Amino acid sequence: MTELHLSKRVEGMYNPATRDIMKLLEKPEIISFAGGFPSADGFPVTEIKLLAGDILSHIEAETLQYSPTKGYRALIKFLAGWLQKGKNIHTAEDEIQITSGSQQGLDLACKLFLDEGDQLAVENPTYLSAFQIFNSYQVSYLPIPCDERGMQVDLLETALATHKPKIVYTVATFQNPTGISLNAERREKLLYLADKHDFLIIEDNPYGELRYDGEELPTLKSLDKSGRVIYLGSFSKTIAPGLRVGYLVARPEIADKITIAKQAVDVHTSNLSQQIIYEFCRHGYLEPHLNKICREYRKKRDTMLNALSAYFPAEVKWTHPEGGLFIWAQLPANIDSTELLQKAVSRGVAFVPGNSFFVGNSGYNAMRLNFSNTSPELIDKGINVIGQLIKEMINETILSA
Ligand SMILES: Cc1ncc(COP(=O)(O)O)c(C=O)c1O
Repeated sequence: MTELHLSKRVEGMYNPATRDIMKLLEKPEIISFAGGFPSADGFPVTEIKLLAGDILSHIEAETLQYSPTKGYRALIKFLAGWLQKGKNIHTAEDEIQITSGSQQGLDLACKLFLDEGDQLAVENPTYLSAFQIFNSYQVSYLPIPCDERGMQVDLLETALATHKPKIVYTVATFQNPTGISLNAERREKLLYLADKHDFLIIEDNPYGELRYDGEELPTLKSLDKSGRVIYLGSFSKTIAPGLRVGYLVARPEIADKITIAKQAVDVHTSNLSQQIIYEFCRHGYLEPHLNKICREYRKKRDTMLNALSAYFPAEVKWTHPEGGLFIWAQLPANIDSTELLQKAVSRGVAFVPGNSFFVGNSGYNAMRLNFSNTSPELIDKGINVIGQLIKEMINETILSA
């Protein structure tokens, strides 16, 4: 076999944890709390069938032609109004770029600003698949610990005395993996620090619309007075991830460069997907659909929280997210969640061990539990299994001590 001579940027791209999770999800007999999938049962299949059928039956040659990289005009216009009304983000249409999912938005933003060795501050833990992007740009990480109010911005401030990140990446609302949100005070402080220390903020917000209770928090973008926030949105968790439609909002100089970068990558996001999303929104389906899926997700979240209280031993602590798709559990220090996963899989249950989400060696006793893509009955059953295993492992450590 000849050597591949891969580029340096590929070295950090392999991600065994995600691959293994995807393999687990393929097995129908597994109760999986592992993925970050929205519930397929909640997809608006009937509406999409009708809308897509209508689009296809009236299809014009124009839809089949190459189209502007920025995106489908009507969808951009809709988004400008939606962001203003729902998120208090006042944005001109030329500040919006349609992307093939927010994953692409994140990749393009990193491509624009990060050279090898540039410093990137991240919440620690953070979104697993963002590492694939960050590693491919060979960044140097500045990990910032989190608590129950999100990223510890005071620790970022301390770090800024000796470090100079170009970008701070945050999933500020219903974070993946913890489900926690950055509180309002820290949001203000983060923006203040961005001005003072001249860095950009990438606000990745695919879960912001999935709120089940509590007060709405202002997006960083809505508080941004100096154009420092690059905002990433997505229809993946609100309508359907398979359509691959997301968007990026940034001040015009950045948005224009993002458009040029996207042109080189995929020319534009699928016209058909953009039109389906637009028609769904234009028909007024989005808000009722969000209300419907939020009701379902709230039920599932509550089922998981109740099951955690019923079956997990008192030594385990977990988050109580007001929205999003994840709960984060913290096991006693001497319980390794990777070992727990192996035992759980042999009893038909999966989750993601915590250390996959960290820069550096942490999180071995933590776990991410997704509640969106499993029925309430199976959530109860699966959490019971994991709870039993944790109790067994705690007993074993007591006996061997
Ligand atoms: C924090 C975060 N960002 C981005 C994405 C990617 O979403 P999309 O399907 O819009 O590319 C996800 C998906 O799980 C996510 O959790």
